Amino acid sequence: MGPPGAGKGTQAQFIASNLSIPKISTGDIFRANVSGGTDLGKLAKSYMDRGDLVPDEVTIAMVRDRLSEGDAQDGFLLDGFPRNVSQAEVLRKMLEEWDLALDLVLELVVEDDEVVRRLAGRRTCSQCGRIWHVEFDDKKDDLCDACGGALFQRDDDKEETVRHRLEVYQEQTAPLVDFYANEGILVGVDATGPVEEITQRAMEAIRPYL
Ligand code: AP5
Ligand code: ZN
Repeated sequence: MGPPGAGKGTQAQFIASNLSIPKISTGDIFRANVSGGTDLGKLAKSYMDRGDLVPDEVTIAMVRDRLSEGDAQDGFLLDGFPRNVSQAEVLRKMLEEWDLALDLVLELVVEDDEVVRRLAGRRTCSQCGRIWHVEFDDKKDDLCDACGGALFQRDDDKEETVRHRLEVYQEQTAPLVDFYANEGILVGVDATGPVEEITQRAMEAIRPYL
């Protein structure tokens, strides 16, 4: 977990690949549904464009379906879920049904000013989903260095919407820090500095569970 722009998606792609487990990102699944024009995508888009959370019942049903797929049985990394206390409570019950529990919750800690800078320059690959930054990755063209796909800017990265997403994070998601600290599974990771150093910090926190 961490505020918008903390680097959750960036870190999740490297951590999941290091551990050979699927990265399950609710934001990515919603965006795939939006571009596919599905009913779920149409519903989610109105909330996402405002920077509000998509209703819990829709989000939870989607995560349940995704976790039921075979590839999640040997471990998974959640990115962007849960995002409020009721999602966290349902997740706990859902995992109990399968005799599973979360091992660890990583909180990426970063200042608001840095987050706004990161989101203003973010570009995402329309083909492979990789995340780039215009300034920090020195992108001169709008093509993905990994696959050649076209890069796009997310609709919810407008400054006004970013500000609202930060408020929603403080009001609804930040309480999960205490929720998981009380369970004894929260580890804060300093999410400033080079991407690779942050991955190292996260991997150190994960190592005892491997
Ligand atoms: P979601 O896609 O989850 O967005 P978010 O939480 O706002 O987070 P972001 O994806 O914006 O940021 P990130 O932390 O992943 O940062 P990134 O790695 O890209 O959700 C979008 C929407 O979907 C929500 O608003 C909501 O409507 C809906 N939704 C999703 N989940 C939901 C749920 N559970 N319940 C209800 N609704 C839900 O990095 C950002 C930029 O910074 C990139 O350009 C990157 O290259 C750069 N960067 C990363 N690390 C560094 C670094 N160390 N130094 C310099 N630049 C860096
Ligand atoms: Zn790509």
